Amino acid sequence: MRIVLLGPPGAGKGTQASRISDTYQIPHISTGDIFRANMKNETPLGLKAKEYMNNGQLVPDSLVIDMVSDRLQQEDVKKADYGYLLDGFPRTVAQAESLDEINKNNDGGLNFVINLEVPFDILIDRISGRRICPVCQATYHISNNKPKLDGICDLDGAKLFQREDDQEETVKNRIKVYQDQTEPLIDYYKDSGILVNINGLQHMDDVFTDIKKILDGAN
Ligand code: AP5
Ligand code: MG
Repeated sequence: MRIVLLGPPGAGKGTQASRISDTYQIPHISTGDIFRANMKNETPLGLKAKEYMNNGQLVPDSLVIDMVSDRLQQEDVKKADYGYLLDGFPRTVAQAESLDEINKNNDGGLNFVINLEVPFDILIDRISGRRICPVCQATYHISNNKPKLDGICDLDGAKLFQREDDQEETVKNRIKVYQDQTEPLIDYYKDSGILVNINGLQHMDDVFTDIKKILDGAN
């Protein structure tokens, strides 16, 4: 299966992506996670991406498209019959057009674009309360999705951290950038018959139940 997860910052893309990837055994490819790993290792790509990310701006299309194109050639994607779950890509119409091109060259179009709908006023609270495990990237929230021990990952005992771009001012920029550059993708996919809108305001278990119904309906 080839799936794109769409939705504003804090909509729950990462949260649902882990569940989908575990359940359906398809690689979870988060462009944000790839950039953060590159920033941490101070690679040339990470150094270029850093200033954009920390201001809440998009990294330029040329850098992102090449990176995703390479990632989609890797063994885990091939093993899953050219299957993948993209989280955070595409984010511009140019990226969506490039993805169509990459898919065409691999004889495999998208099966689903899952759009998580959450009102903008909820997003800031979700993002400011988010905590992440530096080892396994598991995502928690200080009130909605607490770890068993405060500040500690349930899965590997690592100390949770807050993302640098999760400061309130940066989050406001990210939401504005989403409205200007990413929301138009809903129109881009509207007539394709693969766009599914999911109510992302529900409890995260119920969001996943709705997603599962859609994906299972395809089997
Ligand atoms: P990226 O890492 O993709 O961030 P984002 O899109 O802003 O989305 P988030 O990761 O903040 O939110 P999410 O939807 O994953 O929510 P989560 O599940 O964590 O991108 C970061 C930056 O990288 C961009 O700003 C850009 O600079 C760059 N970048 C990345 N891709 C790019 C691209 N393609 N082109 C150009 N630049 C790119 O959930 C949020 C919180 O809410 C958590 O605490 C969670 O526990 C909680 N939560 C989740 N679901 C629920 C629920 N149902 N109810 C209550 N709480 C919930
Ligand atoms: Mg995310």
